[in-house]
Amino acid sequence: MAREKKVWFITGVSRGLGKSLAEAALANDDIVIGTSRSGEAEIIHSTGTLHLLPLDVSLREQVREAVSRAQTLHGRLDVIVNNAGYGLLGAIETTSTAEAYDQLDTNFMGTMFVIQHALPFLRAQGHGHIINLSSIAGLAPVGGYGLYAASKFAVEGLSVSLAHEVRHFGINVTVVEPGAFRTDFLSENSIRHTAKNISAYADSSGETINRLRQYDGKQIGDPDLAARAIIEVVESPEPPLHLVLGSDAFERATKMLTEFSAELSRWQAVSLSTDYQMTAAK
Ligand SMILES: NC(=O)c1ccc[n+]([C@@H]2O[C@H](COP(=O)([O-])OP(=O)(O)OC[C@H]3O[C@@H](n4cnc5c(N)ncnc54)[C@H](OP(=O)(O)O)[C@@H]3O)[C@@H](O)[C@H]2O)c1
Repeated sequence: MAREKKVWFITGVSRGLGKSLAEAALANDDIVIGTSRSGEAEIIHSTGTLHLLPLDVSLREQVREAVSRAQTLHGRLDVIVNNAGYGLLGAIETTSTAEAYDQLDTNFMGTMFVIQHALPFLRAQGHGHIINLSSIAGLAPVGGYGLYAASKFAVEGLSVSLAHEVRHFGINVTVVEPGAFRTDFLSENSIRHTAKNISAYADSSGETINRLRQYDGKQIGDPDLAARAIIEVVESPEPPLHLVLGSDAFERATKMLTEFSAELSRWQAVSLSTDYQMTAAK
């Protein structure tokens, strides 16, 4: 029997991971409804069906319109990928209110808007898979991008909670934590910097920022292989809740879990010291 085509809704297909994923799904002969802020994207494909819609994910009304237009195109949405996002570099103390809101509006609120507008359709059809792009920064951050990490931790919390809420509707949730992938992410076409700089942070966040600048174009992760991994997860009968991508991310996640586990044990007595004392029954 022929494999049933999946209908994908992917945000941010103009470049990077979103573009790779759109091309991989099309190569699988699937249907992709991709969004980009300009409404255009140079997607290479000889199979599959591609639709492009304009969308700035930080604007709720645009999200509502785009998701509903996408659903009417083929009468269903099988896979929703919240991919659009960018990184903000700079110490937390230097981050302005506008810079912080903008980071959260795109990376977190955008993801939430898409989910909120897609869920009525997914619930009605009784199936669906929501893939949210987080980052290894959403599990094990270092200094230099606190607001980016905060936006991705928010995506993590939303995703795990959502998985509990929608499992019984037949909807899967996977939150993806990539390490460094060779996209535009670290290039000046995408990355943003806080306008303010404090020299006292040169050795902490400043060091991270310099390191990331030098890493642009040399990242270990191949976006086409990330796309292949995401497709494998979507095709799986038992997809994971978390998908760490890249050897760098795997190493950082493992280190974080080991250190967290050791800290839990070290402070266990204090953790367990705060419950009301049970008085022995007379
Ligand atoms: N590459 C990495 O190393 C890495 C690591 C961990 C996580 N990630 C995550 O992976 C996702 C994709 O990043 P990437 O590496 O592919 O970066 P990228 O090459 O810079 O592409 C980012 C994409 O997001 C879109 N975008 C940004 N802000 C948007 C907005 N407000 N509304 C709609 N689209 C918007 C961009 O569209 P325009 O062309 O219109 O700007 C572009 O299509 C992001 O969520 C990122 O945080 C990436």
